[in-house]
Amino acid sequence: MQEQYQNTADAAVLSPNKITSICCIGAGYVGGPTMAVMAQKNPDIKVTVVDLNAQRIADWNDADLTKLPIFEPGLDQVVKEARGRNLFFSTDVETAINEAQMIFISVNTPTKTYGSGKGMAADLKYIELCARQIAKVATTDKIVVEKSTLPVKTAQAIKSILNHTGNGVKFQILSNPEFLAEGTAITDLIDPDRVLIGGDQTPEGKQAIQALVDVYATWVPKAQILTTNIWSSELSKLVANAFLAQRVSSINAISELCEATEANVEEVAKAIGMDSRIGSKFLKASVGFGGSCFQKDILNLVYISKSLGLQETADYWEQVIIMNNHQRDRFANKIVQTLYNTVAGKKIAFLGWAFKKDTNDTREAAAIYVGDRLIDEQANISVYDPKVNAKQMQSDLNYLNTRSEDQNKTYLSTESNPYDAVKDSHAIAVLTEWDEFKTYDWQRIYDSMNKPAFVFDGRNLLDTEALESIGFIVNAIGR
Ligand code: UDX
Ligand code: ADP
Repeated sequence: MQEQYQNTADAAVLSPNKITSICCIGAGYVGGPTMAVMAQKNPDIKVTVVDLNAQRIADWNDADLTKLPIFEPGLDQVVKEARGRNLFFSTDVETAINEAQMIFISVNTPTKTYGSGKGMAADLKYIELCARQIAKVATTDKIVVEKSTLPVKTAQAIKSILNHTGNGVKFQILSNPEFLAEGTAITDLIDPDRVLIGGDQTPEGKQAIQALVDVYATWVPKAQILTTNIWSSELSKLVANAFLAQRVSSINAISELCEATEANVEEVAKAIGMDSRIGSKFLKASVGFGGSCFQKDILNLVYISKSLGLQETADYWEQVIIMNNHQRDRFANKIVQTLYNTVAGKKIAFLGWAFKKDTNDTREAAAIYVGDRLIDEQANISVYDPKVNAKQMQSDLNYLNTRSEDQNKTYLSTESNPYDAVKDSHAIAVLTEWDEFKTYDWQRIYDSMNKPAFVFDGRNLLDTEALESIGFIVNAIGR
């Protein structure tokens, strides 16, 4: 293939098996764990993860592995093995870009909070900034890999910025969406169902794809590495998340029906999940899905569909979000109604704030919305979460912009111990499925609470019968 290139520099960068230096922009939930595993599995490749946030980089470099900025089971061991060997964390973005042959973009793409597409479209300002920075400092040809979830056709924008710098540097753009789920990131990365790589179907594009395939092939079986055109790859990420979220909203819709009848949603989920055409995963009824991906990606799909004039398609997917919002509201309303239609001045304990167990990530967590709704009713919320700190909880609530920061401080408090959080409360709401909640001394908890003592199990986590035998009044999703 190399004879196709007149210029030997092109061939060096674009020919497969030649990647020795990788840079990743963004040391967050995606960039950090992904690069840690990539470096662990490719000791011959230098992997540098850069971020503008100096504190975050300092935390990644902390000798004490419990101080890593992201909590993920198993991450500390991977970092321990690779850091300082071929894995580096730095704030020197420009040097890392310049050194690397392959640059991953793993910056955040939150939903826009302003202007056209507000509340729906992805905000691409961080992506554009990255593209401009790469364009500015690159002096050798680069393969640029989109790792962040991006709306379809973003590669075109990145390409346009990169290709109009006028300095003669050549770029190939690849899409390599991340399918890791938080809390299981390390196992998902080490043993992925598939790796998806999209690129231009030109000879240069195919060589860039091959270069990335070779990076993954050191640990992922070739049959599990799918290559597609770039648009299919970008869209597949949105669709995968939309399908998963749709299952959660579907079972959550049925949970409401179960509560209105004698059916038990756990039994229904088990019965339908055993149909191999349906399958058992993602059928756990809950207080609603959270996380940085599901809502954002579906809104993105809705926005793209609307922009293309596909109103029915937009409405179809938007309903998944409407159902999720309804499930959170319904849960909060049930607490208010059950506590005799007033929670003003009552203490309500939250077990869990993170959007799911085994992560310290709180983006779009159900707890934020349920908390906000109960504070509207002037309840005093006392939260315990094993990995989320008080500052994060306040900032999550403040981000909703419902009331002043001082008011949020008055109504929301955080405890570092579950027994303090529940003491003198009227009710407990389980918002995250942390395993440790099952191991508590529930008799002790009952004894310390106001009576009647209620449990609202938003995750169907606890043993209802055992709690009822102690004296609790238990409400669970879909039962
Ligand atoms: C998701 C996708 O799974 C992953 O492939 C993608 O790359 C990023 O988005 P993540 O957001 O980390 O990953 O978590 P996930 O395990 O998918 O859970 C999302 C939300 O749905 C959580 O709040 C979870 O508690 C909830 N959920 C999940 C349910 O309520 N019920 C279920 O059965 C499954
Ligand atoms: P994700 O879940 O997508 O990984 P995070 O918010 O955890 O999202 O991580 C994204 C990271 O990207 C943040 O640490 C942020 O500081 C970083 N970032 C955003 N823009 C830039 C940029 N232009 N250069 C370097 N780092 C950036």
